[in-house]
Formats: sequence, structure tokens, C-alpha cells
Amino acid sequence: MRLKDKVAIITGAGTGIGEATAHKFVREGARVVLAGLPDDPVKDVAEVIAAGGGEAEAYLGDLSEEAAARACVEAAVRRFGKIDVLVNNAGVFIANAETQEYRVEDFERTIRCNLRTAFLMTKFALPHLQKTRGNILFTGSEAGISGSARFTPYGASKGFLHAFAKGVALEQAHYGVRANCVCPGPIDTAWTRGPGGPLSLEIQKSIDQMVPLGRRGSPEEIANVFAFLASDEASYVTGALWLVDGGVTPAKGMAGAMVPEELRRIPAVTLPLRHAHDGLRGKHVHLAEK
Ligand SMILES: NC(=O)c1ccc[n+]([C@@H]2O[C@H](COP(=O)([O-])OP(=O)(O)OC[C@H]3O[C@@H](n4cnc5c(N)ncnc54)[C@H](O)[C@@H]3O)[C@@H](O)[C@H]2O)c1
Repeated sequence: MRLKDKVAIITGAGTGIGEATAHKFVREGARVVLAGLPDDPVKDVAEVIAAGGGEAEAYLGDLSEEAAARACVEAAVRRFGKIDVLVNNAGVFIANAETQEYRVEDFERTIRCNLRTAFLMTKFALPHLQKTRGNILFTGSEAGISGSARFTPYGASKGFLHAFAKGVALEQAHYGVRANCVCPGPIDTAWTRGPGGPLSLEIQKSIDQMVPLGRRGSPEEIANVFAFLASDEASYVTGALWLVDGGVTPAKGMAGAMVPEELRRIPAVTLPLRHAHDGLRGKHVHLAEK
């Protein structure tokens, strides 16, 4: 119960990593506000939590809109009286094209959903986090460190979050507020597995070969690190970029090809996940022909 008596807002909480983080935080004793786009299955996640005896408030809205982000923070304070943790996890990965073909509308949607959401939520939550000496977590990416061909704006949006998290950590330390950024490698969500995503099925097959641990990570493996960083056990951790990437960031070549089959298995899922691969449902994904 590392998050006992804590109140956390988790964005992008209806699917993938956000859904897992919601369940993990509740298991660790937190009460949670789960935020997502109006079509996201956020209410379903909140209902599963309530059925298991936890406390969760669902908030639906586009958090890249100032009014929606402000209202989400207000809803958390109204329901639970305080905020201890903000997890800025919402994001999109909705195009695969060389930069000269990358559509301006996809660029703008990426900036809105990946940057504006995190900036606005941080801005509105900070006065409350200063009262509780709380902390902020961001979902960055190995793509924000290494860059990414064919989705250059996506990688760049994550690079923004890395620097933003560090700046917030430096600036807010004198209030006792920590800020850290988790940088996942390829995680087993709609973004890396299944049809209709931004990666071709051929590329999807090669992912495990590129990762030194020989496999994708699971949403729960990211949630485990978030739970630690959000807790008082991480009281001396701030301004950190925390790689949770199976070793892919420093890797060169096909390091994962040498990993034996029995070591490639993703650890058993212990959380009641229902939407790990639903994040792209209803979203247009643009794939350039070349
Ligand atoms: N899956 C991976 O391989 C991977 C790797 C590195 C980083 N990440 C990061 O992890 C985070 C979660 O990704 P995921 O793989 O779980 O994908 P996902 O699509 O399942 O989750 C992202 C969620 O954010 C929501 N969202 C997007 N824009 C929003 C907005 N404006 N307002 C409210 N909600 C919004 C989406 O609807 C979705 O439910 C993202 O920030 C992503 O960049 C993922």
C-alpha cells in the first residue's frame, strides 16, 4: 500500500499504460481520477475499480483544451479534497510518414495531445500539488531520446516532455514538489501490436529482435515504475528520466535475436486489464505510401 491515502489524477487512463497505472495505483491504496477523451473507456475502468472496492472518478474531455484540463483538476479537488500525484500519460501516435509527407494536421494533433495536455494539466494541478508536497509523472519515450524516423514529430514531442519534466523538477523543488519522467520502450498496446496502428505488421514482427530483452514491455511493467516514483519511497528522486525500455535505447543492431524463447515471455498480468489494445479505436491513423 505504497500510495495509501494519496489522490492521483491519471490522464489517458481508459486504455493501455494509463489503464494499468489506474489499477496499480488503486492496488497501492490510492484514490484516482481517470481522465480520457470522450470516446475512451474511462468509465468502464472506473467501474471495474469500484466493483473491486476502490474509489475512482471518471473525467471525460479533451485535455488539450484549457477549460477541460482546468475542469479535470477541479473535479479531482471537488471529489477528493486534494491532489497528491498527477500522471501526465495521455498521448497519440497517429501517423507514419517521412517528414516531407507528414501531414500538418497530424503534427498539430500530436503537439496538442502530447504537449498541451501535459502543460495544461501541470499548470492547473501545481497549486494543489504544492499544498500536499506532491509529485508529477510524465510518460516520455525512448523516441524522445533517440529520435524516431517516420514519426519525427512524435519523438520530438516526447523530447519536449523530458525537458519540461526536468524544468518543472528544478523549479518546484522549493515547494517540495517532485517531477519525473518515465521513458518506455515498445510496450504491448495498440501502438505496437495489431492491425490499424501506425506500425506495419512487418515492423511489428521485428520489434522484439531490436530489444535486448527480446520482447515488448507490458503496460503493467510501466505502471510498476510509476507506482514507485509516485510513492514516498522515491522521495529523493526528482528530475529523472527513467528508462523502462528493455535496453532498447542504448542497443545497436538486433540484440534481441539472441534471447532464448523462454526468456521472451511477458510476465503474467496481475491487474484486471480490459483495454490494453483499445487506444487507437475511433482514431484516424495516417500511413504514407512510401
Ligand atoms: N506503447 C508504446 O510503445 C509507448 C512507448 C513509449 C511511450 N509511450 C507513451 O505512453 C503513453 C500511453 O500510450 P499507450 O501505448 O498506453 O497508448 P493508448 O493509446 O492506449 O493510451 C493513450 C491514451 O491517451 C488518450 N488521449 C490522447 N489524447 C488525449 C487528450 N487530448 N485528452 C485526453 N486523453 C487523451 C487516448 O485516447 C488514449 O486512451 C503515451 O503518452 C505514449 O506516448 C507508449
